[in-house]
Amino acid sequence: MDFSIKTIDAKSASTAYKAVKTACIVVGVFENKKLSAAAANLDKQGVIASALKSGDISGKPGSSLLLRNVADTAAERVLLVGLGDAADTVAEKAFQQAVQAAARSLANLGANDVVIALPEVKDRDISWSVRTTVLAFRESTFRTDGLKSKKDTATTGVKKIAIAVNATQAAAAKTALLQSEAMANGMDLTKELGNLPPNICTPTYLATTARKIATDYKMVAEILDRKQIQALKMGSFLSVTNGTVEPPKFIVLKHNGGKAKDAPVVLVGKGITFDSGGISLKPGAGMDEMKYDMGGSASVLGTMRAIGEMNLKLNVVAIIPTCENMPSGSATRPGDIVTSMSGQTIEILNTDAEGRLILCDALTYAERFKPAAVIDVATLTGACVTALGHHNSGLFTRHDDAHDKLAAELLAAGKQTGDTAWRMPIEEAYNEQLKSNFADMANIGGPAGGSITAACFLERFTRKYTWAHLDIAGTAWKSGAAKGSTGRPVPLLTTFLINRAA
Ligand code: BES
Ligand code: MN
Ligand code: ZN
Repeated sequence: MDFSIKTIDAKSASTAYKAVKTACIVVGVFENKKLSAAAANLDKQGVIASALKSGDISGKPGSSLLLRNVADTAAERVLLVGLGDAADTVAEKAFQQAVQAAARSLANLGANDVVIALPEVKDRDISWSVRTTVLAFRESTFRTDGLKSKKDTATTGVKKIAIAVNATQAAAAKTALLQSEAMANGMDLTKELGNLPPNICTPTYLATTARKIATDYKMVAEILDRKQIQALKMGSFLSVTNGTVEPPKFIVLKHNGGKAKDAPVVLVGKGITFDSGGISLKPGAGMDEMKYDMGGSASVLGTMRAIGEMNLKLNVVAIIPTCENMPSGSATRPGDIVTSMSGQTIEILNTDAEGRLILCDALTYAERFKPAAVIDVATLTGACVTALGHHNSGLFTRHDDAHDKLAAELLAAGKQTGDTAWRMPIEEAYNEQLKSNFADMANIGGPAGGSITAACFLERFTRKYTWAHLDIAGTAWKSGAAKGSTGRPVPLLTTFLINRAA
């Protein structure tokens, strides 16, 4: 899919849309039977107005109607999309539904190229519109059928998509386009990795992917194997991999886009390529979905791909502890006590609370980069899904000025891209629940506030820098008929980094 920005000259705007030569031009109409400026421009003969009047299209967000041979226009087809009841500028949600409807309709048309000419969105800039358009089209064409012997039925599909803007918007739109395509490519990688089966997407596979990103975008990859992980005394991480024959990896991927002396942002991603629960075995139903337990690492790799492609002027280090969590005669037992890289000891009361066990050592390792900020991303707790559902990722930080600022940046980046997060508390009171009679802490704090006690556990390993934790257990993938990775939170993370680089 080839996107471009098409500048429509404001001086000739009253005739400009009529002159656009394309297989299909997409324009908006409203519920009150009003036409957008571009639609009115095409409608000298009143065909669009009468389509609205007759009720052939309601104008509701998500509605669409294809017209052919609209007299006096250079476009072969005119695709009308509903934009709701707005008067001057369109509501965010209506715009989103309109581009989704356009993508759906175009998937079943013979049109090869299309020009999207939609109005401005209320309280949003052109960058937002461009990104929303690109991500909607890319989402609508994403397929995971690499392992099917018969590929999903091919739709004709549109190849070239031009987004119409005016001259004052053109520069910003072009920058936004480059960033949005990079973001979409990053999301695709995240989705692909997530959807791959756990017998293919192993820790070694993730390491190979990191190496490939390093080669493609001139980054530096360092892959540590079991011996090197042992040498670092990551006793907590290693305890999780005890039950499997699949070799663990510790991946470090560096993007040196900033000045050499600039402190990097460190992204840490949970990379459990399959979480059976270990000896604290999970119930059977839906256990296949625990292949998505590497969603944190997949989103970190997707984000690295995105910032590599856009050559972001920022230093970013990705750290991915990755292994399987399996039961066997050599697996870690409930009751085992391990020593983390930080020296703190942990009583493992439940081997299914393994994410925090691999992350805590990665968070200690992150200290050596003297980071500007560390953000860990993890499908960490079912409790987070209970708390926030599938709409928001959980965001946890300490509650001081520096961390309030970091939290605000992350929340804003989420809002900017519709990849939202919701802030949760970290408080001393919850730490009580992590007490162990025999070690510095237990790895579980009981069912009450499960996502918070998990965050409190991680917090103990992050005191040397500014840190945030994203629990993406509810947002990284969808279950049911539409089962599949969402590519989240690549938009949030990438936008956060873009904003930091600016
Ligand atoms: N990977 C899971 C968390 C998870 C569960 C994510 C379901 C998405 C859907 C994690 O390793 C886990 O098993 N957490 C336990 C923690 C508990 C034992 C304290 C959980 O959430 O049940
Ligand atoms: Mn688990
Ligand atoms: Zn897990």
